[in-house]
Amino acid sequence: MSTTNPFLFGVIVSGKDFCNREDEINELKRDIQNGQNTIIYSPRRYGKTSLIFEVFRQLSDEKNLNTVYVNLYSILSETDFVETYHRALFKSLAKSPQTVFKLLSQYLKSIRPKVTVNPDGAFDLGIDFMPEIDEALTDIMDVPLRYAEKTGKNITIAFDEFQQISCIQNRSLEKKIRNIIQEQSNKISYIFLGSKHHIMEEMFSNPNRPFYRAGKHLPLKKIDRRNMTDFVVEKFNKSEKSIPKNLAEHIIDLVDNHPYYVQHYSHVIWDISEKKVNKENLERALNYTLSRESAVFLEIWDRLRLNQKKTLVALALKDKNEGIFSQAILKHFSLPPVSSLQKSLKALYDQELIEKAAGDYRIVDLFFKLWIKTTWG
Ligand SMILES: Nc1ncnc2c1ncn2[C@@H]1O[C@H](COP(=O)(O)OP(=O)(O)O)[C@@H](O)[C@H]1O
Ligand SMILES: [Mg+2]
Repeated sequence: MSTTNPFLFGVIVSGKDFCNREDEINELKRDIQNGQNTIIYSPRRYGKTSLIFEVFRQLSDEKNLNTVYVNLYSILSETDFVETYHRALFKSLAKSPQTVFKLLSQYLKSIRPKVTVNPDGAFDLGIDFMPEIDEALTDIMDVPLRYAEKTGKNITIAFDEFQQISCIQNRSLEKKIRNIIQEQSNKISYIFLGSKHHIMEEMFSNPNRPFYRAGKHLPLKKIDRRNMTDFVVEKFNKSEKSIPKNLAEHIIDLVDNHPYYVQHYSHVIWDISEKKVNKENLERALNYTLSRESAVFLEIWDRLRLNQKKTLVALALKDKNEGIFSQAILKHFSLPPVSSLQKSLKALYDQELIEKAAGDYRIVDLFFKLWIKTTWG
């Protein structure tokens, strides 16, 4: 039995900390085995990165398969891409400094790598000399292919935050990567993950974009509500505390069954409650969380225009089934005329405070939404 807080948020979760998603896991495993490229997207913090880590973990015993995870979040140039990919690729393929030297000399043609070995035996990878960018790009992108041909193994590469590449140098990187990938055999499969829903969709669904039809779409939904409830109940039980099922459901409903917020809210509840969670603990945990975040929320709030504030209040308080443009809502929340409302929505959307979902809009940060709700409700 563990007595540390069993709820984790803001980190990658896998193994016993990963809740269900069995269907998605099985589907992805099949796709990987078939060499099928996939595109996974969802709003932020739904669990894309964790899902890939869990799938790769479950496949780690497969002798015939190598998996590579590359996070493109911070790349700002084509050179960054080559460096980031280079490091991730060789760190995944090589387990020790000895093997990394061998692999680097075997599989790189024009890039000259730099290896630093720390006293503890861990190593880091950099690039000592990079040829002209197109040559470097082809060199690094071909490594998996050369590796697969030589070893007979399959390779799966997950590019996380892949939408980043569409922001670089007039999208030239997007085109170049696509061209190289297109010529590779089915021994190499790619998984493209991204959270900027609209950018990802545009990249993969617009016939004029290089990645049109580049793979199978797998939009990640929330975790099944029942599984999420069981997960919360079990986590409490296994850590010498307990929560009645109806209160676990209450947590999940309050944060719309959003995985990150379920974990975050449960974490605080676990911290402040005694052995058995009661209703009062839930309220106190919420107040505590909202007051802790309130400085940030106030700062956001203060820089918004009046109509944008009204729009947020309406989105936070209105019934889920009522669209923001319905007459009743416009009237009830004294919203501006539709044209101004659209402007406000666009401004909020551009600031990533709201997102589009099923034809309507919703506030991205659920604690922000609850803060608005408790302040103006
Ligand atoms: N399957 C899961 N089981 C339990 N918690 C999850 C799961 N998926 C996501 N989470 C929660 O959501 C958080 C964000 O997950 P992450 O994988 O980083 O999402 P994304 O990559 O979509 O932004 C995690 O830190 C965890 O608290
Ligand atoms: Mg992620």
